[in-house]
Amino acid sequence: MLPFRLIMAEAVFPGSFDPVTHGHIDIITRAASIFDSVTVAILNHPDKVGFFTVPERMAMLEEQVREISPHVRVDCFSGLLVDYLAARKARVIIRGLRAISDYDYEVQMALMNKSLREDIETVFLVAREANSFISSSIVRQVATLGGDISKFVPKNVVQAVLNKIAVKK
Ligand code: PNS
Repeated sequence: MLPFRLIMAEAVFPGSFDPVTHGHIDIITRAASIFDSVTVAILNHPDKVGFFTVPERMAMLEEQVREISPHVRVDCFSGLLVDYLAARKARVIIRGLRAISDYDYEVQMALMNKSLREDIETVFLVAREANSFISSSIVRQVATLGGDISKFVPKNVVQAVLNKIAVKK
């Protein structure tokens, strides 16, 4: 049961989510307890092939957000993030901050987005300590090398990663 939401506005949580991890789920859950609605927006990169296709990533995320709140939806976007927000009449970007190494890149993005659209605010949620070393890329690497990823990603994602590795071999 989530506590009552504090801010009557939509927040957009953008990312690659290739694949979604427990770290992402925690940020989505916490954002959903603050904002009226949360849209998890997967970047559909025009010239970068992901580990999972965008529809595969959307399906995995949808299975997860169903358990969080009916106020969370999953979408994808291409082009500038600020244009996507403008189209949704949204003003808030959510990003998770893990270690200090995230800081440079995240501040650069937040400042760029603000200079592209003054009314945009980026809200950072600090990752829980337990999730502070988890990233999609490290999870993919560990799984590809035969390591157990079940502590880092939801159950449906573990199986999907293993299936994908088998197909790619
Ligand atoms: O999960 P990621 O890969 O760290 O997410 C990065 C993402 C998708 C948030 C970022 O690359 C992005 O917003 N891309 C859209 C293009 C854009 O708006 N670029 C200018 C602002 S940096």
